[in-house]
Amino acid sequence: MVRMFILWCAILLSLNATDAYDKNCVKCHASLPISLEKIFMQYLAAYGGKNNVKVGLDHYFRYPAKDISVMPSEFLNKYGVYYHYKNNDNELKKAIDIYWEKYKVIGRLK
Ligand code: HEC
Repeated sequence: MVRMFILWCAILLSLNATDAYDKNCVKCHASLPISLEKIFMQYLAAYGGKNNVKVGLDHYFRYPAKDISVMPSEFLNKYGVYYHYKNNDNELKKAIDIYWEKYKVIGRLK
């Protein structure tokens, strides 16, 4: 019984975690010409490891600016600098964690 409960909690937590990225990131980015995967590789190249990438993303989301962006300047001229932080610290942090987990392996293979 207790085991079932713990299992359910784990499933619910993981569903919730998947949501934070799918819900907050994927839809809008699907309409942009540079994929989230490509952007991730730019971050990996610019920031190196796990902690630096996560801190770099978090920082950009709070304080977006052209001169620290990894996006090409033509892209920024067209779409503008986007302020990702929407008053929901926890969701954003979860989304960054999922973003890292999703693409880190592909990053390492290259
Ligand atoms: C409503 C649209 C929208 C949503 C939602 C959105 N983004 Fe973005 N994102 C953009 C646009 C537009 C840019 C390009 C402008 C820029 O880089 O500031 C961008 C840029 C980025 C960049 C590159 C930052 C840089 O260095 O310029 C990353 C990484 C990113 N998004 C990840 C995410 C993640 C992760 C989420 C979910 C938490 C998310 N985005 C949600 C529109 C969105």
